Amino acid sequence: MGNNNLKVFRAEILHFLDDPAAQEENKSYQYFPDGILIVKNGHVETVGHFKELGQTLPADQKVVHYPDSLILPGFVDCHVHYPQTEMVAAYGEQLLEWLENYTFPTERKFSDPDKAAGIAEIFLDELLRNGTTTALTIPTVHTESVNAFFKAAEARRMRMICGKVLMDRNAPDYLLDTPESGYQESKQLIEQWHGKGRLRYALTPRFAPTSSNEQLAKAGQLLREHPDIYMHTHLAENLAEIKWVEKLFPQCSGYLDVYNHFGLLGKRSIFAHCIHLNNEEFELLHKTESKIAFCPTSNLFLGSGLFNLSRAEAQKVTVGLATDIGAGTSFSLLQTIHEAYKIQQLRGDQLSPLKSFYLATLGGARTLDLDSKIGNFEQGKEADFIVLDYKSTPLSALRSQSCTQLIDKLFALAILGDDRAIKATYVLGESAYLR
Ligand code: GUN
Ligand code: ZN
Repeated sequence: MGNNNLKVFRAEILHFLDDPAAQEENKSYQYFPDGILIVKNGHVETVGHFKELGQTLPADQKVVHYPDSLILPGFVDCHVHYPQTEMVAAYGEQLLEWLENYTFPTERKFSDPDKAAGIAEIFLDELLRNGTTTALTIPTVHTESVNAFFKAAEARRMRMICGKVLMDRNAPDYLLDTPESGYQESKQLIEQWHGKGRLRYALTPRFAPTSSNEQLAKAGQLLREHPDIYMHTHLAENLAEIKWVEKLFPQCSGYLDVYNHFGLLGKRSIFAHCIHLNNEEFELLHKTESKIAFCPTSNLFLGSGLFNLSRAEAQKVTVGLATDIGAGTSFSLLQTIHEAYKIQQLRGDQLSPLKSFYLATLGGARTLDLDSKIGNFEQGKEADFIVLDYKSTPLSALRSQSCTQLIDKLFALAILGDDRAIKATYVLGESAYLR
């Protein structure tokens, strides 16, 4: 048998087997200072020490060698708005005014399929430049924006989750659907895209204030009719938003109760932000196996608040990291870790380097219920991985000279690194980006 489909990569290699906080830290990951990753037909065949595995290779096997570099599984972004790519860095507002003044006018443009297709390409390029290979993405209310995104992701064979935004009130007319049109269009899009190749569908009510009771009831119905799709929305991001939700849904006991009332919680339900939750709400997320997307750069940019990661961990709610572009300010999961670290510092907590790289890879895959397919280098997983450069800038090169331990190297990468630290990104074992 030939070895045409075998691809071999040599570098430092790190991947996680579990949450470093959940068990003995040194059992939660595998680290190979001189490692080798063997990929067959786009899937992981094996990973190990070069010294041992290198000898088992055919004599003529080509080995792609990345010295001074670290191979990691591709980053996972658990909440990001692709149409907001062009409006990152909009000045001066907090959530509700930011939506009205900047976001809605930008999203209006996505009724145009050509506009949507153009930005989808730029967005996916940007993900790959930043080492992100999977994302849970919000488009706009327009079916055109969903089709454009899925088409672009399919052509690149990327593992992506997306689904039409549902919003039937409290936004400009040009962005509104109705309970019935939202239901019918979602259903048609689910049939068209959910499970097509590596694509999955997420039912996406924007947030409670922009959906009527009727629309949220229809969303619950869609979830019951399609139990294997995702549910994706925002929760408890901003204090004015929470007050508004209490006014709009007086029959509910709180923000999370609104979504619970309509049957929207569950194993594949992902809630972005969750900054202002009480312990009962964390408990309900835990009990229903619902997940949280922690959006550090966005939460700081919009002045939303400091997410309580330790509380989520203590109450056993699964958390992933997210950029939340365009309220977020960077596509880089390295920058996202950096700001997550600072948020925990301000809370008097610590986010360890191991935990943060776990969150950006396997933790994200678990948040998106994709850990049987991606997130680490267990045999048979899809070979989405990235090559990080420890010396991408003069300062990081200088800093890396005094790093002897893995932990120091990871921390410096996250604090000093950004898109420049991504040397290469691979999708299903094929090069998708090379710096
Ligand atoms: N809540 C409702 N819509 C949005 C959005 O587009 N961005 C953020 N950060 N929060 C939201
Ligand atoms: Zn968001």
